Amino acid sequence: MSKVSSVGPKHVAIIMDGNGRWAQLRGRPRLMGHHAGARRVRDIVEACPDQGVKYLTIFAFSTENWKRTQTEVAGLMKLFRRYIQREARNLLANGVCVRFIGDRVRLDDKLVRLMDELELLTSQNDRVHLTVALNYGGRDEVTRATQRLAHDVGAGKLSPADVCDKTLPKYLDTYFLPDPDLVIRTSGEARISNFLLWQSAYAEYEFIDTLWPDFTPVIFAKVLTSFKVRDRRFGAVKA
Ligand code: FPP
Repeated sequence: MSKVSSVGPKHVAIIMDGNGRWAQLRGRPRLMGHHAGARRVRDIVEACPDQGVKYLTIFAFSTENWKRTQTEVAGLMKLFRRYIQREARNLLANGVCVRFIGDRVRLDDKLVRLMDELELLTSQNDRVHLTVALNYGGRDEVTRATQRLAHDVGAGKLSPADVCDKTLPKYLDTYFLPDPDLVIRTSGEARISNFLLWQSAYAEYEFIDTLWPDFTPVIFAKVLTSFKVRDRRFGAVKA
């Protein structure tokens, strides 16, 4: 099975990197870069329908990002709360269905409540499916999934022989999503930083130099166009 895609990716996942450098280049605090990055999120979500992107998954905060200064972590958490409060109406009106992945246990109650409310509010939307990874790590996700799976095996709901690559994804945070076709990372770094480890097994990757706050819908469209000429073989060879 070989496939040169004439169509663009249905599911795009983005590692939004470079906010800190963007701010530092302007002599401003790192948090200012995150605020600029949040404005970009809106532009890119709005660009999705015209580009045929049905699913957009963005990496907002990793399980490793707690290692940043207390000021930056607190500023980011405040930004997430404000983003949800300010964008909820716009997301609803634009047909965006929002879901969050990641471990909510370490997030503060107010943020979790806002996340729950936004998921419920937008649950009937189907124009674009925006998934926000917040306190997310691929290894942490697989670990939590394995714990739940082991629990079901222990409880007799699942037999060990039934554990396979079709069963495990049902326990992942992304159980409701197709696998990403394309993963984009901005800012010139070429690594995946614990993002969608299981799900990206056959994703195409695009590492681009642009810092996230400079990532415009025009650049997004160019990246999606270059995806179309990729030869996706999924491990097979050409006939
Ligand atoms: C990585 O850039 C970015 C983050 C850790 C935060 C991503 C958050 C946003 C884009 C803000 C808004 C998101 C939502 C969903 C409202 P970095 O700080 O590591 O940049 P650097 O590598 O230049 O330091």
